[in-house]
Amino acid sequence: MGQRCLALYSGTSNRELAEEVAKYLGVELGEIEIRRFSDGEIYARIAKSVRGAEVYVIQSLGSKVNEYFMELLIIIDALKRASADEVTAVIPYYAYARQDRKTKSREPISAKLIANLLTVAGASRVVTMDLHAGQIQGFFDIPVDNLSALPLFTRYFQDKNLKNPVVVSPDIGGVTRARALADRLHTPLAIIYKRRPAPEVAEVEEIIGEVEGRDVIICDDIVTTGNTLFSAAKLLKLKGARDIYAAVTHGILTNDAHKKLQESEIKELVVTNTIPIPLEKRVPKLTIISIGNLLGEAIKRISNKDSLSSLFD
Ligand code: R5P
Repeated sequence: MGQRCLALYSGTSNRELAEEVAKYLGVELGEIEIRRFSDGEIYARIAKSVRGAEVYVIQSLGSKVNEYFMELLIIIDALKRASADEVTAVIPYYAYARQDRKTKSREPISAKLIANLLTVAGASRVVTMDLHAGQIQGFFDIPVDNLSALPLFTRYFQDKNLKNPVVVSPDIGGVTRARALADRLHTPLAIIYKRRPAPEVAEVEEIIGEVEGRDVIICDDIVTTGNTLFSAAKLLKLKGARDIYAAVTHGILTNDAHKKLQESEIKELVVTNTIPIPLEKRVPKLTIISIGNLLGEAIKRISNKDSLSSLFD
């Protein structure tokens, strides 16, 4: 029996990251013809045979989320119908993850719907990073590898020589993540109590923990409007914090969040490239670190049936 060949494909959302992963793996990105019809329908055709192949499709869901998600489903469908043996959906940022439960009557659980759709399309595994809630893995009955950007942030901030640093969670939901970064950096932890009176409106109220005279790293999974981050930074400054940094995995940065960042109390916001950030949004206070090698290594290990555990160290 011949060995299965590994094939790597990219949707149109984050080609730059996919190229980095391909380089790490020493493979070429497979060719797909992707077109839009005049009514908006998406067409995808895999250029070469993938019969019996082990296929990985990279697609980020940061901006134009519905468009890119539908494109991903159509690519997976094309691959399965072309007799690919296995298709892994590599989704560096899993959108809709914040809709993971009903908080009011008659609401959807969209994170579960996304999981169902991926499975029905034919994905046999999902690779993602810093899911908003780890439990989302349980929405799938296929393996989910939820990678973490914390090792990358740890190395980045270890080199900074911060003064008396403290890691801050900007809300109660982010405490586990912030605690993990604090443990890695051997710093204390502080927690901000945040209320959300309406979607995308953040009101920060109180800080639990000591921040006065300390450099601060706010740790979060997502920055969308930036309201959470900027109001947290304002409160931290009021409470006497020194330099304020932020480490956030997914930099969605909608509308003019990049401009607000530049005017905010934050000295530097460090995000990863799970979501491509257009050039005009790359303001001086924004640093982007790449997950390309980490993702490449994860794919290599999955393909070789090796453990992924050490990628979390
Ligand atoms: C909330 O639970 C998340 O972890 C983020 O804090 C939030 O989604 C960020 O959104 P925004 O930037 O719009 O405040």
